[in-house]
Amino acid sequence: MSHDFLHEVAEPARQVREGSRFEVVGREDFSESTFLLRIHYPLLAKAAKPGQFVIVMSQEHGERIPLTIADFDPDSGIVTLVIQAVGKTTMEMQQNCQVGAELFSLVGPMGVPSHIGDAAKVICVGGGLGVAPVFPHARAFKQNGAYVIGVVGFRTRQLVFWEDKFRNYCDEFIICTDDGSAGIKGLVTDGIKVAMDKHPDIDEVIAIGPPVMMRACAETTRPHKLKTTVSLNPVMVDGTGMCGGCRVKVGEKMMFACVDGPDFDGHQVDFDDLANRLRRFSEEEKIAAERWSKSCRAVKATHGPHPGETGPRPQGEGEPTAG
Ligand SMILES: Cc1cc2nc3c(=O)[nH]c(=O)nc-3n(C[C@H](O)[C@H](O)[C@H](O)COP(=O)(O)OP(=O)(O)OC[C@H]3O[C@@H](n4cnc5c(N)ncnc54)[C@H](O)[C@@H]3O)c2cc1C
Ligand code: FES
Repeated sequence: MSHDFLHEVAEPARQVREGSRFEVVGREDFSESTFLLRIHYPLLAKAAKPGQFVIVMSQEHGERIPLTIADFDPDSGIVTLVIQAVGKTTMEMQQNCQVGAELFSLVGPMGVPSHIGDAAKVICVGGGLGVAPVFPHARAFKQNGAYVIGVVGFRTRQLVFWEDKFRNYCDEFIICTDDGSAGIKGLVTDGIKVAMDKHPDIDEVIAIGPPVMMRACAETTRPHKLKTTVSLNPVMVDGTGMCGGCRVKVGEKMMFACVDGPDFDGHQVDFDDLANRLRRFSEEEKIAAERWSKSCRAVKATHGPHPGETGPRPQGEGEPTAG
């Protein structure tokens, strides 16, 4: 093969690779374990809809993890992800994904967009990390002319984020903290009750957060027969309906969260089944996180701390994981 031919083939390939860089152009750290990444990806920022997610590989030999698109701006071409470091991959991202870094791959938007119908009054509920993924819903309902009540829950005031961002699109905004250091003292279910008592005409509740929180929200609204949509976060691998890893039980049906969801009717979801499935790989996840932490300590002992490193957090601490 001539050198010219190789050059002709290689040059466009290089351009494609260069054209598909997933550069981290912004980062904020909300707490010891939660951080935000802004990624420049104009096509995705244009195509994304509330409720959708991406599958990310932060490095070539890493695993694929699903992350909800927490914000998207077609004008700037920026997509926002909010991530909680809970295990090997997310801790690795917390350490390595600084401004200027590139993700190896980012595929999306995946999943069925949330149905932003003609509801006149809605409650958008986010717990812990689930606060970020429910933001696009609040904005979309508001832009559709709905009266939007935001209810967000955190352990304590220091963990509160995006308050101003929500207030821009919410007609009412209720913060709930476990210790009462901000807003009302209590859980998001207390916030939902406050909103329901004041407004007997709510059409729909959207709740995103850890499974235990979404289940509690669904039980709060069930006696009132109030439509409640939840966003499920089972373990996903391909995200395209092929591996079956993300099976969830909804009513009498088995569904794949990646292609049939992740939104489902909260009153129909079998949350016990979801909790069991989320525990399936806990032993392997623990080993992977320990191995990674050990290798970090070894690197640190030789080269000193990584710039901007906040350090891995032992599993089980911090805010609850949300999808
Ligand atoms: C649709 C969807 C959206 C999500 N959005 C977000 C988000 O916006 N921000 C965020 O921080 N997290 C999100 N998650 C969860 C996130 O994917 C997991 O926290 C991440 O995969 C954990 O990987 P790890 O190696 O760091 O931790 P591990 O130690 O491997 O796992 C920690 C816990 O995360 C869950 N998990 C592990 N692997 C996966 C996987 N491949 N798919 C789903 N869950 C997994 C398990 O319950 C496990 O117990 C989402 C999950 C789903 C399904
Ligand atoms: S992630 Fe494989 S089928 Fe849903």
